[in-house]
Amino acid sequence: MAQIGQDITLAKKLLEQGDLVAIPTETVYGLAGNALNEKALLEIFKVKRRPKFDPLIVHTDSIEKIKKLVTHIPDQLQQLADAFWPGPLTLLLEKQLFVPDLLTSGLPHVAVRIPRHAVTLDLLASLDFPLAAPSANPFGYISPTTAQHVADQLGTLIPYILDGGDCHVGLESTIIGFDELNRPVVYRLGGKKMEDIEAVIGPVRLRLNESSDPSAPGMLKSHYAPKKCLYIGKVEDLLLHHQGKKIGVISFMATRPSLSIDRQLVLSSTGDMDEAASKLFGSLRLMDQSDVDIIIAERFPEDGLGAAINDRLKRASTR
Ligand code: TXA
Ligand code: MG
Repeated sequence: MAQIGQDITLAKKLLEQGDLVAIPTETVYGLAGNALNEKALLEIFKVKRRPKFDPLIVHTDSIEKIKKLVTHIPDQLQQLADAFWPGPLTLLLEKQLFVPDLLTSGLPHVAVRIPRHAVTLDLLASLDFPLAAPSANPFGYISPTTAQHVADQLGTLIPYILDGGDCHVGLESTIIGFDELNRPVVYRLGGKKMEDIEAVIGPVRLRLNESSDPSAPGMLKSHYAPKKCLYIGKVEDLLLHHQGKKIGVISFMATRPSLSIDRQLVLSSTGDMDEAASKLFGSLRLMDQSDVDIIIAERFPEDGLGAAINDRLKRASTR
């Protein structure tokens, strides 16, 4: 069983040996290995049961280190890096030849980010290689936002979980790159709000991959899913429709007196969208582990992180 602890030196030693370590970030926990070591990369795909057509994100602690991995950083993406790194933003940049194809699933671009988490920044600064780290969950399941979430699912498969507390953003990073016409495109909504991105580089297109086609890497249509059926929409209508079942309800602000207290989770009683985002995945897990038959979630207002919350709920509910 994986040890859970705060020993950066041990984490460094394991990673240098080519072993995997779960690491905390501000978004979700990552399943980390040496991004330049094919054996470690293969182990990541194996432990996560992730298909090799789905590429990994690389983490470092400085733009200088990132510059060694890529051919160049386009101006607009450099502006975003300056504004938001360390932070929940991933950039797709043209890779240098030595960066393994296994890491990028054969794509010419590599996904990179500098996470905003003191423990992991210390670890990254102590290493002379970058870390590949997908979310530390089995492929397709809800991403982990605590060390215990990682232990629950991958505990028997990895030696160490570096505990950095609860992830305070709670949604994966926003992924942005350039399209064929050299325009900035958001490929995954996430922890960095669209409003903030557009304030720096102007209007940005959204191209959220809704495909389940393995030849189109990136965001798969069905993802982040609990084992129980999840329905999203107007809670009162859905409750009526599913009468007779044990229902768990996840809502934004409103408590429902008609439901027992153990069957509902309110993500932010004050209507704070950032707080709601940080609680989303943990709440889906709680409901999934409870005795309810199905889960109903309210659709969120689309502003701020609400758009990314709705995106995750939609993917989680696709069957
Ligand atoms: O917040 C995050 O981004 C977390 C933490 C651990 O950093 N990581 C994360 O990784 O969410 P993962 O592997 O669960 O999701 C990465 C997504 C995948 O949907 C993958 O297809 C896409 O990024 N991706 C990675 N490299 C890509 C590339 N070169 N081109 C297009 N999409 C890429
Ligand atoms: Mg993931």
